[in-house]
Amino acid sequence: MRCMSVSLASTHATNTAMLGLGAYRPARVVSNDEVCEKIDSSDEWIQTRSGIKNRHFAEPEESIVEMGVIAAQRALDAAGMTADQIDTVLVASSSTFTQVPHSAPQIAVRLGIDKPGSFDLVAGCAGFCHGLAVASDLVKAGSARNILLIGGDQMSLGLDMTDRGSAFIFGDGAGAVVVGPSEEAKIGPVVWGSDGEQGAAIRQEPSWSDIVISEDYRRPALQMEGPSVFRWAAFSMGKVARQILAASNVTVDDLDAFIPHQANQRITEVIVHSLKLPETVAVADDIVDTANTSAGSIPLAMEKMLRTGQAKPGDLALLIGFGSGLTYAGQLVRLPRLSAE
Ligand code: COA
Repeated sequence: MRCMSVSLASTHATNTAMLGLGAYRPARVVSNDEVCEKIDSSDEWIQTRSGIKNRHFAEPEESIVEMGVIAAQRALDAAGMTADQIDTVLVASSSTFTQVPHSAPQIAVRLGIDKPGSFDLVAGCAGFCHGLAVASDLVKAGSARNILLIGGDQMSLGLDMTDRGSAFIFGDGAGAVVVGPSEEAKIGPVVWGSDGEQGAAIRQEPSWSDIVISEDYRRPALQMEGPSVFRWAAFSMGKVARQILAASNVTVDDLDAFIPHQANQRITEVIVHSLKLPETVAVADDIVDTANTSAGSIPLAMEKMLRTGQAKPGDLALLIGFGSGLTYAGQLVRLPRLSAE
């Protein structure tokens, strides 16, 4: 007779936290003046319209795997953990130029992590916040113990540097966090969603299927309807931010930091205004010297705030990512420790 007391309940964690944060910015700094060598624009126009002064471009061989390995090792160091304590590796990126094999197992093997669950997740510039929600829920469900989450993109390889609507917006970089169990809840519930009807506002052109059908071997590049994306982000994300606060019963007065996706400084300013953020709340401004690194943007912005003292570990921060899809995701977090690097 079969035992009726068999239970599929897992040993789960009630609460989760980001236990450590690491970042990697490629060495090569590209100024607005250098970008303007190929487009009809100016340093002044770019700074006024977007807030961007510089961005980092990876060397071609500095793929998401290369950047991710360094950021992830720094996140482990910050958490005071070693590779054998990680059982799952999750990579959020839209620029894994080798899609088969995907990035997560390649990063895991380079770090010496033994047979972890390894998968990639694609949600454009909202990728990191999607990954954080998935990682936190996997730990809470007991499906994983400690997860390495890497968010990053190598945007420069997929840009048309002669397109003045997109060439100046993007940069390269990666950030990583260890997500694990915690006595206190340090990752709040996610609020996420999408508007696929506006999907074409940020797209790859030509698509891989168009290339196959037409035998047009033109290099695919990112195309963006900037003003449409601007309107969507600036005017919808305030409402999403309020939903995130409400989901944790928190008000703007409780916040220490606001870390939105670094898409455009003017988008950030509209959201800050719409939320009526008190001046005591530190607002991420990594876009100035890093530009928009897509899935790398939020962990890199967190890293800058912690490194420069704009925020400190344990501070309550509102994260919100948004971008291609069009998709968005955000949550409240307690900021993690940073590696010494
Ligand atoms: N340099 C100089 N002039 C430019 C230019 C450039 N790089 N790009 C566009 N212009 C011109 C346009 O031709 C237009 O001229 P006109 O008024 O004579 O017609 C004018 O500047 C305004 O163009 P517009 O596209 O409306 O500018 P904008 O204020 O919307 O700024 C972006 C453009 C791209 C900075 C802005 O739309 C944006 O940031 N969008 C969101 C992008 C984003 O976040 N993408 C990623 C999402 S995750």
